[in-house]
Amino acid sequence: MNILAISGSLRAISSNTTVLQALARLAPDGVRVTIYTGLGELPHFNPDLDNERIPDLAAKFRSEVGVADGLIISSPEYAHGVPGSLKNALDWLVGSDAFAGKPTMLVNVAPRAFHAQAQLREILTTMAARIVPEACVIIPLGSRHDGAKAIAADDSLATKLREGLNGLLASI
Ligand SMILES: Cc1cc2nc3c(=O)[nH]c(=O)nc-3n(C[C@H](O)[C@H](O)[C@H](O)COP(=O)(O)O)c2cc1C
Repeated sequence: MNILAISGSLRAISSNTTVLQALARLAPDGVRVTIYTGLGELPHFNPDLDNERIPDLAAKFRSEVGVADGLIISSPEYAHGVPGSLKNALDWLVGSDAFAGKPTMLVNVAPRAFHAQAQLREILTTMAARIVPEACVIIPLGSRHDGAKAIAADDSLATKLREGLNGLLASI
């Protein structure tokens, strides 16, 4: 099973990216969690290019989403909203059939940042994602963490992450 994980942060030591790396470590045999690395290079969405002129990187992103059995999204909140780079990536998916119905897990590493989570859910629901309730987890990391290995080795965090991932896999 192939799961594509998308972090809404471009920061080098992002807590959102790190929690996705921890999930990749915790994935059971036969499940590969791949972290999407192209968010920062995606061109700005332009409906005029949402056709046979679609930029290569956007087409590649669509195809990576299309072949994934499920998605995991973990995003920070910027100014009470979803980071522009993540919204831009999602906009590239609106006009394709790569995304609709895709089982989706949401990870929230900052429970106080509820505006972005609410917006993300609204956006994904509008895009006909299948947000899996059992796969939505809160992992209160904040911006301080000791890396993916430490998160995966922490019993309490690893249990929550495994439960969420299992919920996603069961729904797939
Ligand atoms: C420009 C900017 C705006 C932010 N706005 C908010 C905000 O509105 N609410 C909030 O809870 N945190 C806000 N934060 C804090 C980030 O969401 C927080 O540091 C998050 O952990 C960053 O995620 P990352 O470690 O994956 O990069 C903001 C951070 C930045 C850089």
